[in-house]
Amino acid sequence: MSVTLGIDIGTSGTKTLAVRESGEILASASAEYPCSYPKPGWSEQDPSLWWNATIATVREVLAKGHLKPEEISGIGLSGQMHGSVFLDEQGEVVRPALLWNDQRTGAECAEIEAIAGGREALVRMVANRALTGFTAPKLLWVRTHEPKQWDRVRTVLLPKDYIRYKLSGTFATEVSDASGTLLLDVANRKWSDELLAKLDLDRSLLPDCFESFEVSAQVSAKGAETTGLKPGTPIVGGGGDQPAGAVGNGIVRSGAVSATMGTSGVVFCHTDEPGFDPEGRLQRGCHAVPGAWHVMGVVLAAGGALQWFRNELGKAEVLAAKEQGVDPYFLLTDEAATVGPGAEGLFFLPYLTGERTPHFDPHARGGWIGLTVRHGRAHMIRSVMEGATYAMRDSLELIREMGAAITQIRVSGGGARNALWKQIQADIYGQDVCTINASEGPAFGVALLAMVGTGTYSSVAEACDATIQVVETTPVDPSTKGLYDMSYPIYRGLYGDLKGRFTAMDALVRGA
Ligand code: XUL
Repeated sequence: MSVTLGIDIGTSGTKTLAVRESGEILASASAEYPCSYPKPGWSEQDPSLWWNATIATVREVLAKGHLKPEEISGIGLSGQMHGSVFLDEQGEVVRPALLWNDQRTGAECAEIEAIAGGREALVRMVANRALTGFTAPKLLWVRTHEPKQWDRVRTVLLPKDYIRYKLSGTFATEVSDASGTLLLDVANRKWSDELLAKLDLDRSLLPDCFESFEVSAQVSAKGAETTGLKPGTPIVGGGGDQPAGAVGNGIVRSGAVSATMGTSGVVFCHTDEPGFDPEGRLQRGCHAVPGAWHVMGVVLAAGGALQWFRNELGKAEVLAAKEQGVDPYFLLTDEAATVGPGAEGLFFLPYLTGERTPHFDPHARGGWIGLTVRHGRAHMIRSVMEGATYAMRDSLELIREMGAAITQIRVSGGGARNALWKQIQADIYGQDVCTINASEGPAFGVALLAMVGTGTYSSVAEACDATIQVVETTPVDPSTKGLYDMSYPIYRGLYGDLKGRFTAMDALVRGA
């Protein structure tokens, strides 16, 4: 029997799974932690939170699964993408990590595009335009604004790669997560020496880059002592949470796309070629499958919008849920189900942390438009769910425009655990949506990659075929689809109408 561990370093928590080669989950554990927002538009986390959560969840999984350390044949790591962990000469953290949804680097993005010789030239080098959440602009920000800290920086790692370092003492990454740094030559699956030179960044700051299934490190004696794992256990490259989640959803061939509503919302499409779009309207990167690539659209606050509602306006439901021993989201979505599709003309813009696809606007803001005295909480909740789903449709439309023949939409994350949200997705996307037997996303995906890297399966597709099946389909309701098709252009128009106001509001807050 082969058992691998999948460890996913998420934004709100870390999840660890022990998975058998059949795909059966032997044990799972998760630990939550906070995010800090020290200034408007900033988003940071202390990497020690991830490491402590890794230690706790690995120990819990070994205990719950009655697993001896020597029974673990390999480990896969996944994590929130684009975050930058700055380490000094001794491998100590220099400052809190800047996260994927941090929006402070607008000026650095403009600087990178200018230094590269324009957007198109940049996209030719690294397949993407400069996005505020990406890693490279964060490096430039620290270099400009915190020169003392920058002088101490010797290594920059992505979040999951920091955990690899703590487990093994090795600095390494892999192509799928590296694609989101803006420093990878995505077409050739190697660091872009050309862009590094132009940005005056030393190649030695970056770790070696592997394919996602390749063994990149082994658990060290120190890592073993802290976690209870066996020294020498192989650690494969793993993947950024989106490509890893796509493997966990079986998106490893053309045709099926995934729509994942976690904190962020992502529409992910496998491609057989790296592709090129001079405007960089979608994110492009290496897939966690060798010889394959992906395009994806990212909504910064999808599930995150409903999470915000729960935290700030759903305190009554949180209390009631505690008393009834149920999940507060069930109470909220039950309330939403009492009103009809379209929430009587109430729209919600989910741009609570700015927006990436399709607006690329760090100043974008959220809000309800269309309130009347007839509207109550139920309409507000329903419109939050619909607004997040319209935002996902924006990305889906771009993928459709690219000419991808989408034969199936696989939904996952919080938006797939709820019958109402699944129906809203089918009706807004205008296509049936389905769920699969495996619902653990990225942690499951990297556990499969670890099976490939340690020889249980000969390819990622073989591992997915052996473990993943579609279990349920939610068909489109044609009349609701009709209503949403009429509503979608109104939703689309609202951002354009308000764009200038958002920038002015942002200037107000920043005192400009
Ligand atoms: C992907 C992205 C987010 C983070 C956090 O580009 O920014 O999905 O990976 O989950």
